[in-house]
Amino acid sequence: MEIKIKSLLHQLKILKSLKARIFVIVFLIGIIPSFIIRFAILESYEDRAVSLRTSDVQNQLKIIANHLITYNYLKDTSSEVISAELEQLSNLYDGRVIIINSNLKVIKDTYAISEGKTIITEEVIKCFKEGKGVSNYDRENGYIEMTTPIIETSGVAHAEAGDSKTSDIVSGVMLTGVSTDSIMTTMDILNRKASIMGILMMFIIFVIAMVLANVLIKPFDRVTKAISEVKEGFTDEPVSVSDYLETEHIVDAFNQLINRMKVLDTSRQEFVSNVSHELKTPITSMKVLADSLLTQEEVPAELYREFLVDIAAEIDREDKIINDLLALVKMDKKASSLNISVVDINALTEIILKRLRPIARKRDIEVVFESKRPVVAEVDEVKLTLIITNLVENAIKYNNEQGWVKVILDADYQFFTLDIMDSGIGIPEDSLEHIYERFYRADKSHSREIGGTGLGLSIARNAVLMHRGSIKVFSVEGEGTTFTVKLPLGYISA
Ligand SMILES: Nc1ncnc2c1ncn2[C@@H]1O[C@H](COP(=O)(O)OP(=O)(O)OP(=O)(O)O)[C@@H](O)[C@H]1O
Ligand SMILES: [Mg+2]
Repeated sequence: MEIKIKSLLHQLKILKSLKARIFVIVFLIGIIPSFIIRFAILESYEDRAVSLRTSDVQNQLKIIANHLITYNYLKDTSSEVISAELEQLSNLYDGRVIIINSNLKVIKDTYAISEGKTIITEEVIKCFKEGKGVSNYDRENGYIEMTTPIIETSGVAHAEAGDSKTSDIVSGVMLTGVSTDSIMTTMDILNRKASIMGILMMFIIFVIAMVLANVLIKPFDRVTKAISEVKEGFTDEPVSVSDYLETEHIVDAFNQLINRMKVLDTSRQEFVSNVSHELKTPITSMKVLADSLLTQEEVPAELYREFLVDIAAEIDREDKIINDLLALVKMDKKASSLNISVVDINALTEIILKRLRPIARKRDIEVVFESKRPVVAEVDEVKLTLIITNLVENAIKYNNEQGWVKVILDADYQFFTLDIMDSGIGIPEDSLEHIYERFYRADKSHSREIGGTGLGLSIARNAVLMHRGSIKVFSVEGEGTTFTVKLPLGYISA
C-alpha cells in the first residue's frame, strides 16, 4: 500500500512537468502567429509602397515623354521647360533620369555624367524593340530602375480621318532610377514599432501562459497535497478535489485504496488480538489446573492424574493452534511455495479417511468414500492433505451421533472435484460468508463443547487458492453440509 501511494505521488509529480509543457504550448501558440503576422504585414507594405512609387513615377515619365516629342527634345535639348520638368522629377523622387535617342546615345543625364555616351543594356534594347517600359526593384541597393519608351506617332491626320495607317515609332528611351530610401525609412519605423509591440505581446502572452499553466495544474497540486497529508497522517477524512473529472477519478481511486487499507488494518488488528487470545486460553487453563493442585494439601494421586491429563490436553490444543498458525503464515507468504508432484488422489483420500475413521467411530458416524474414477493430479500432497483432513474433520465434528460423512471424487478432462457431504448440524445462513475467516466459529454454544480454533477452513481455502482451484459450500441448517473443492488436474503456474 505504501508503495502504491508513493507511485501515485510520483505520477502526480510528473504533472509538474506537465505544467512546464502547458506553459510552453500556450506560449508558442501565442507567440508564433504574432511573428507571422508581423512579417506578413511588413512584407506586403513594402510590396505595395514600391509598386505605388513605380506607377507614380511611370505616370510622370509618360507625361514627360509626350512633352519630349512635343518639344522635339530628342533633336534639340535646349528646351528650358523640359529641363525644369526633369529637374523637378529627379528632385521629387531623389532620382536620375537619362534620355537615350534612337542611336542609343545619351542626350541628357540629370546627373550630367553619362551625356554623349552610348548605353546598350538589355532593358533599353527591349524597350526600343517592344515599345514597353519595364521596372525593376533593386532591394539591396534601395532603388527602382525603369525604362520608358518615348513614342512618336506618325500619320495622325490620316488616323483622325478614319484611316488606320497610323504607326508608333520608339524614337527614344528614358532610363530612370528612383531611390526607395523613404520607403525603407518608413519600413524601419514600422519595424521598430512592431518590435516594441512584439515584445509587449510576448510579455502579455508570457503572463497569460504562466497563469493558465498554474490554473490548469492547481487542482492536481491540491490532490498531491491532500494525498500527502493523508500519507503523513494529518487527516483521516476522505480526500475531495472535484475541480476536474480527472481529479475526481484520482481522488476516488485514492479513497478506495485508503478504505481498503483501513479494512486490512482492522483485520490485521483483529487477527493479532484473536491469536493472542487463542494462545492464552490453553495457558490460562493450565495455570488454573496447576494452581488448584498446588494450593491443595494432600491431593490424592487420582486427582493429580486427572488434572495432568487435562493439562496434557491443553498442551495438545496449544500445539495445534501454533501449528495451524504456522501453516497459515507459510501460505500467506504466497511465493508459490507449492511442492508439486503427481499424486494418486484416490489413494491419498483413502489414507486420510482411514486415519480419521477412529474419531468418527467414537460417535458412531459412518465415513464413506465414493470414487467415480481413478484420478491422478499434479498437486502439493501436504497441502491437499490439509484440505481434505480439515473438511472431513469438520464433517465429523459438526455431525450428529450415528450420522454419516460421504466423500465423492470425480474428474473431467481439466479438473477433479471432491464433495465432502455430511448429515450434520449445518451452518446458519448468516454465518456462511464468514466461515473462511480466521478464528471464525459459527454457533458459539456448540463450538465451545466441540472444540476448535476456527482456523481449519482458512487453511483449507488458502491451500485451494494456491492450487488455483475453488471451494464452495452448500448447507441447510439441521440437515447437513456439502463442501465442494475443485482443483486443476495439471498444475497451473503463475
Ligand atoms: N461441516 C460443517 N458443518 C457445520 N458447521 C461447520 C462445518 N464445517 C465448518 N463449520 C463451521 O465453520 C466454523 C469454522 O470452521 P473451521 O474448520 O475453520 O474451524 P473449527 O473447526 O471451528 O476449528 P479448527 O478447524 O481450526 O480446529 C466452525 O466453527 C463451524 O461452526
Ligand atoms: Mg475445523
